[in-house]
Amino acid sequence: MPTQRFLIDRYDPADDRAYEQEFSVDYEPGQTVLDCLNIIRWEQDGTLSLRMSCRHAICGSCVVKINGRSGLACQTQVPAAAGRGDPIRIGPQGNQTVIKDLVVDSHKFMEQFERAETWLQPHEEQEPPVREYRQDKDEFDHWQHASTCIHCGACYSDCTVAAVDPKFLGPAALAKAYRFVMDSRDSRKQERLEALSRMHGGIWDCTRCFMCVEACPKDVLPMDAIMELRTEAIKAGVTNNHGTRHHKAFAGGVAKRGRLDEATLPILSAGFGPGAIPEMIGYTPGAIRMLKSRKLIAAARRHGASKEGRREIRRLFDEVADEKHHHDVNREAFGTQYAEALRT
Ligand code: SF4
Ligand code: SF4
Ligand code: FES
Repeated sequence: MPTQRFLIDRYDPADDRAYEQEFSVDYEPGQTVLDCLNIIRWEQDGTLSLRMSCRHAICGSCVVKINGRSGLACQTQVPAAAGRGDPIRIGPQGNQTVIKDLVVDSHKFMEQFERAETWLQPHEEQEPPVREYRQDKDEFDHWQHASTCIHCGACYSDCTVAAVDPKFLGPAALAKAYRFVMDSRDSRKQERLEALSRMHGGIWDCTRCFMCVEACPKDVLPMDAIMELRTEAIKAGVTNNHGTRHHKAFAGGVAKRGRLDEATLPILSAGFGPGAIPEMIGYTPGAIRMLKSRKLIAAARRHGASKEGRREIRRLFDEVADEKHHHDVNREAFGTQYAEALRT
């Protein structure tokens, strides 16, 4: 029977003590990380706390960090997690408060679904059908990936934005919001897109780091869902917000000059009119510092890409514009701005 060492992050709330503890487990081939954690707490240390229920990747309760990445302990085979003779490192989910050992307080994660209003809000004027509300198959196929979420929190645990912004809705809630935006039985598509575009922590705050896609055990593709929400928002004319302006200014600058235009990016992102004043005031101290250090002038004078470089950039933009990709926010946003930039 092979033996595997585990290095587990422990936290004892009774005396507010965090420490690491090593265990060795003899395991049968085919056993999972969760099986081994259970062997530890049933046979070696009954004080080890963790969550689990189904043991079949259904309930979503056993997510822990395995060697620093979040995943279902019941779905991870021991050899897949083990390095060459190294202990498997186990820790609690990230971006949430640890209650004890591997158990976290998931309120913050769950509250995001409420903020995103992830429930069906049907058309009130519509006569209720005799039987169920029917869903068109093609439509369902388009968003069914977002409906397979088991609310395990692995994506939220590894999300790089949730790590720095507690108001970020996070990948799971946004993927669920996408599912309702795309459902024709829901009456609030436009309102949802406007709220998700304007709110702090909405669709434009994702940095497209892919961590949620890699962490998700159910192929929900949360980042893709967020990108599709951006596309839907632009298509629906929801463009008068910081995120869309920033996206377009960024792409437009690159398309036009072959580089990021740092001097105009904040102004174009803030937009014009009274609504932009608080944001511009917020930029003032940084702008003064840049002026003093002559960085602002250097940024304004900096040359763009060479002729060949611009040609390559143009080729890349064209490639993106032609791409028949699952989400096409780049075509929506880059395409328009790129065309405008080329005309000027
Ligand atoms: S892609 Fe976006 S939502 Fe997903 S983990 Fe990265 S920042 Fe978070
Ligand atoms: S999107 Fe995936 S990782 Fe995130 S909560 Fe749902 S099933 Fe878990
Ligand atoms: S115990 Fe249910 S998903 Fe792992």
